[in-house]
Amino acid sequence: MTQQFRITLLPGDGIGPEITAVAVDVLKAVGTKLGIQFDFTEAPIGGCAIDATGNPLPDETLATCRQSDAVLLAAIGGYKWDTLPRAQRPETGLLGLRSGLQLFANLRPATILPQLIDASSLKRDIIEGVDIMVVRELTGGIYFGQPRGIFDANGDQRGVNTLAYTGSEIDRIGRVAFEAAKKRQGRLCSVDKANVLEVSQLWRDRITALAADYSDVELSHMYVDNAAMQLLRWPKQFDTIVTGNLFGDILSDAAAMLTGSIGMLPSASLGSSGPGVFEPVHGSAPDIAGQDKANPLAQVLSAAMMLRYGLNQPAAADMIETAVDAVLNQGYRTGDIMADGMQAVGCKAMGDVLLQALA
Ligand code: IPM
Ligand code: MG
Repeated sequence: MTQQFRITLLPGDGIGPEITAVAVDVLKAVGTKLGIQFDFTEAPIGGCAIDATGNPLPDETLATCRQSDAVLLAAIGGYKWDTLPRAQRPETGLLGLRSGLQLFANLRPATILPQLIDASSLKRDIIEGVDIMVVRELTGGIYFGQPRGIFDANGDQRGVNTLAYTGSEIDRIGRVAFEAAKKRQGRLCSVDKANVLEVSQLWRDRITALAADYSDVELSHMYVDNAAMQLLRWPKQFDTIVTGNLFGDILSDAAAMLTGSIGMLPSASLGSSGPGVFEPVHGSAPDIAGQDKANPLAQVLSAAMMLRYGLNQPAAADMIETAVDAVLNQGYRTGDIMADGMQAVGCKAMGDVLLQALA
């Protein structure tokens, strides 16, 4: 029986289209092998959507995403759009997609691949074996809190954002994190700033209360400043981390950099129902766009996460992850992860060797 899935492709800006092309080829190859048919629909988001329609997230794009089984996003943004007013910035399109699809849970794995240990700026014994999952709340907190704005204040100006979480918002991301930890090493570290912020005190109280339902998970708490330090000092102490939107934004970049190669890391954004969005952690890299230099592996691994977490196709996900492992073992490297004695390839050629590994 052939399975059929509708996939919305959002290639976005910069290197997005080149790396998406590789991921689509890989998905098609895996689909042919396993009897899965993908129906791809492409839609604009970010800078390219601003150029075409004036809106970084056109209504049709959101509607197309809603009608699909999963969304594969690449990257958005570029110098050209950086000075536009906030409502017309590429980032606003991305935030609109997250809230429009109610993707409150962002899973960002940071796994050290043994082949790439020397690409990290940290010492081998510190990072060898690191395998962290950051679970970031994605549709609340200071990114979306009201009031917000820049206001007049008696002849001065006042910039305001609001960091707020309701108990139920904390509970739903907490449950996702406990479930994730359960499937991993069973250790969950909740990161907050409860020594200063009331919202963090509520966060800590609610996460602590949830622990009663997960006796197989060992819960700990850490202040965010200490967590940033501990990530660099001894990252192996972490298994699963759960935190709010802004702390998660920052800590997931720090965790990503442990691996030495942000060009390798995928992510998944999930809601309680409806399609998830799967995207690499890296950005649109406008400086190398269109030059066939980009590393497509994070995009390809995002397609694997889409199969695993969005479409419940673990065999297909395994197949892609095995192929990525194989091409790294064969010594193929794009510029960002290049090392002595390895074979330098461009984006397209990396796609070709992946297809050979899958054949
Ligand atoms: C991320 C990015 C976004 C964020 C930006 C582009 C709005 O940094 O996905 O981590 O802050 O969430
Ligand atoms: Mg970020």
